[in-house]
Amino acid sequence: MVLVGVEIKETEVSDEDFEEMKGFVRDYLAASVESEDDGGRMRWYPWHSASYRFNHILNVVDLATEIAEAEGADVDVVRVAAVFHDVAKLEAEQDVHAEAGARVTREYLQSRGNYPESFIEEVCGAVVDH
Ligand SMILES: [Fe+2]
Repeated sequence: MVLVGVEIKETEVSDEDFEEMKGFVRDYLAASVESEDDGGRMRWYPWHSASYRFNHILNVVDLATEIAEAEGADVDVVRVAAVFHDVAKLEAEQDVHAEAGARVTREYLQSRGNYPESFIEEVCGAVVDH
């Protein structure tokens, strides 16, 4: 195992934890659409489908992670914020979906794992501001 150059970070989000977050967001989006009587607020528009939104999120995760690595930002904060940024997109109106998403994110992070409050604050701040 090569440890040279590896920084010990305060918060470590394992790949397993991150995959679980992806699954949560995917299911949350699907449930947001299913819970509507008519099959979804804007079901005829592909960009409002759960699969379209989840695919967009995965693209943002990839790009944001790449940028965070290149810029020396906290990759865990950035990738977790990226995966949650549109979690409430299909259940909330556009002008409040970022705040709603931050609430979902906070609830998730506070109820699982052992994430420090400072980490949760950073992630939720990024979700609110996106
Ligand atoms: Fe958004």
